[in-house]
Order: sequence, then structure tokens, then C-alpha cells
Amino acid sequence: MLELKNISYLVEDEGLGDKKEIIKNVNLTIEDGFVAITGPNGGGKSTLAKLIAGIISPTSGQILFNGEDITNLSITERSKKGITFAFQQPVRFKGLTVKDLITIASGKNITINEACGYLSEVGLCAKEYIDREVNASLSGGELKRIEIAMAIARKTPLTIFDEPEAGIDLWSFQNLIHVFENIHEHAGGSIIIISHQERILNIADRIVVIADGEIREHGTRDEVLPKLLSQAAPSPALGDESDTALGCPTLLDKIKK
Ligand SMILES: Nc1ncnc2c1ncn2[C@@H]1O[C@H](COP(=O)(O)OP(=O)(O)OP(=O)(O)O)[C@@H](O)[C@H]1O
Ligand SMILES: [Mg+2]
Repeated sequence: MLELKNISYLVEDEGLGDKKEIIKNVNLTIEDGFVAITGPNGGGKSTLAKLIAGIISPTSGQILFNGEDITNLSITERSKKGITFAFQQPVRFKGLTVKDLITIASGKNITINEACGYLSEVGLCAKEYIDREVNASLSGGELKRIEIAMAIARKTPLTIFDEPEAGIDLWSFQNLIHVFENIHEHAGGSIIIISHQERILNIADRIVVIADGEIREHGTRDEVLPKLLSQAAPSPALGDESDTALGCPTLLDKIKK
């Protein structure tokens, strides 16, 4: 179980020469299960995920993981406690192959077949990728899938995926949904998925809406999703910019105000 207590995150606002509060006194308890976090662009979702993973530290507040205060632990220490974070924009690792990364992620010596199994789960033809270097030659979607395969291989009690759908083509997206359903069913613990996709929100146990650095909604899928859908303009992606371009304010625009 993850608890965020009065978490705030301030940065220097270079334009104003002042502080800008990106996360504003957030209180959030995430029980075991599948939690989706959504909200408008720039609302603070990735920042919150980075605070949980330890990539950045809160200006104030406390983060507890299974009752233990992890606020001052480094990324590595949090990772050892069982927190995995898959970035919105995955990092490339020049010099390491896909097999190396999946082996490191799994934390043990795994066979080529096992490593290939993880790649197949995310829809990559394993033999074409297993020996490839994780460098700039991989496409954005390929890199994203490799990162998801690594998270599956890690099997930690808490996995955070930041917009896993980003860059994944529509044809593969449905399969990816099954991947998350499988992790959910078999892994236990908690999965947090940051997403704008209704199909991901649809399989979550709970949904959190973050806008302007604050939690605007938090409840079960049945409590939150109908509200989001009734107020959002018809679109597969909540808050899709195309709606705004057409002059239709989305729910997420309304939340922003
Ligand atoms: N280090 C920083 N310095 C200044 N502003 C920052 C910094 N980090 C984040 N921000 C700003 O904080 C806000 C929240 O950013 P964040 O990446 O958390 O949004 P998000 O909800 O993940 O958006 P998206 O849906 O586009 O991914 C944005 O306005 C961003 O520009
Ligand atoms: Mg983000």
C-alpha cells in the first residue's frame, strides 16, 4: 500500500523568478490493485509518478510504502523495496542489448527463451529484438514495448506505467490491454497506470483525476468513469486535443478551470 501525505513539489519558475507549485498538498492512499491516474496535459501526473519512484524529491510531505517512510530513499533503494517505474519517454541504454536489460530487470540469470517470452508478451518478434542494442535505432514504440517487457520481468509489488499507450499503434493497443489485465490478475500488489485512454480506465479498479497539481476525483471506476464520460466530448482519448481544436471543451478542460 502506498500513502502520499501532504505532498507538495515546487520548482523555480524561470520566467517569473519565483516558485511554481506543481503538486499541491496531495493526500492519496493507493491500496493494492489497479489504479489509473488521468487528467489534462500538464496537470502533474508524471511529476507525481516521479515523486513516488524517487526520481525527484517532494518539497514537503511524506511517502509511505507498506507503512515504511520512503521519502528520503533514493531511486535505487525504492527499486529494491519493490517499486518499478516505466517512463513516459523511455531512456535508451547505448551499449546494452535488449537481452541484457531484461536480464537485469528480472534480477536473475534467465534463459534466452524466458527473455524472449517477455518480448512476445508485448508483441515484439523476440528473435529480431533480443540482441539489438537499446540505442537510438529503436523506434519510440519499440522502446516503449521493451520497457513494458522489463517491467513485466521485474514483477515488483508496485509498478507505475506512465502513459504506456504513447507511441503504440492502435492495432497493438488491444493486446497491450490484455498484458495489463494479465499483470493485474497474476502479479498481485499494485499497478498504477497513467493514461488518457478510456480502454485503460475501463479495466482499472480505481481512478484518480489530477489537474493543476491537485486531486480532483478519486474513487472506484464505477464512481469516477461515468462522470468523466458524461462530461467529456466524444473521443476515445479523454482530453484529446482534437476536441479542443474543434471548439468542444473536454471534461479535462473543465477540470482544469
Ligand atoms: N522541473 C520543472 N520546472 C518547471 N516546470 C516543470 C518542471 N517539471 C514539471 N513542470 C511543469 O509541471 C506541470 C506538470 O508536468 P507533468 O509532466 O507532471 O504533467 P502531466 O500531467 O504528466 O502531463 P502530460 O499529460 O502532458 O504528460 C507542467 O506544466 C510542466 O511544464
Ligand atoms: Mg506526463
